[in-house]
This record gives sequence, structure tokens and C-alpha cells, in this order.
Amino acid sequence: MSVVRINAITVPAERAEEFEARFAARAGEVAKSPGFEAFELLRPSDDRGVYLVYTRWESQEAFDAWVESSAFQRGHKAHNTQGPVSSQSELWSFEVIQSEGAAA
Ligand code: HEM
Repeated sequence: MSVVRINAITVPAERAEEFEARFAARAGEVAKSPGFEAFELLRPSDDRGVYLVYTRWESQEAFDAWVESSAFQRGHKAHNTQGPVSSQSELWSFEVIQSEGAAA
């Protein structure tokens, strides 16, 4: 059963452009991590100011291994060296119990 880990990041409006620019230049290493299934960066279209970084993994262990890896460190290089653009972040955890895509 897949697991979903979402990092919900609150970004002040005046830093949204910088936040998106960091992701536009992201390392792209997450997709190479064992057990990786999907990534999406979701921009809020309501007034909450919360971006969601959606990731899906084949197991909890696969996610934990990525978080502890040097790939995670490289994926957060700008965050680590230039400081956060967020005012708050929280990790949301889910298990996928049903899934369907559009018919081809
Ligand atoms: C303190 C908490 C965190 C903050 C504020 C944060 C913010 C950011 C930012 C701004 C970037 C763009 C690259 C950079 O700035 O270096 C990034 C990359 C990324 N973040 Fe986070 N992050 C955090 C933790 C997490 C966690 C727990 C996850 C798990 C869902 C996650 C998922 C990702 C992914 C998938 C990327 C792209 C990495 C790649 O392309 O290899 N982040 N994050």
C-alpha cells in the first residue's frame, strides 16, 4: 500500500515568487530515490497561503530513507544555505486506500 507525505508550507505573499523560483531550480533528486512514486508542487488558489508539496512512496520506510539521505539534503540546498522562505511548515501523513486515474 502506498503512503502519501505532504509538506504543507505557509509562504508569506511577498515571498511566494522566491519560493516558486527555488522549486523551479530544484535538485530533482527525489525522483531517483528508491520507492519514490510521485511528486507535485501545489500552489494555493484560495487565500490560505499554504503550498502543498505532495509526495507518494511505496512504503513508509522508503520515505524515511529519503528524508535521511544526502539526496534530501541536496534537495533542500537553498533552504539550508539561504534560510527558509516559509513562515511555518507541517508534515501530513496518509495511507492510500483507494486510487483511480482518468481512463486512457
Ligand atoms: C522545514 C521543513 C521544510 C521546508 C520549509 C521545505 C521547503 C522546501 C523548499 C523551499 C524547497 C526548494 C529547494 C530549496 O529551497 O532548497 C524544497 C524542496 C523539496 N521539498 Fe521541502 N521543505 C521542508 C521539508 C520537506 C519534507 C518533510 C518533505 C516531504 C514531503 C519535503 C519535500 C520536498 C521535495 C520533494 C522537494 C524537491 C526536492 C528535489 O527536487 O529533489 N520537504 N523544500
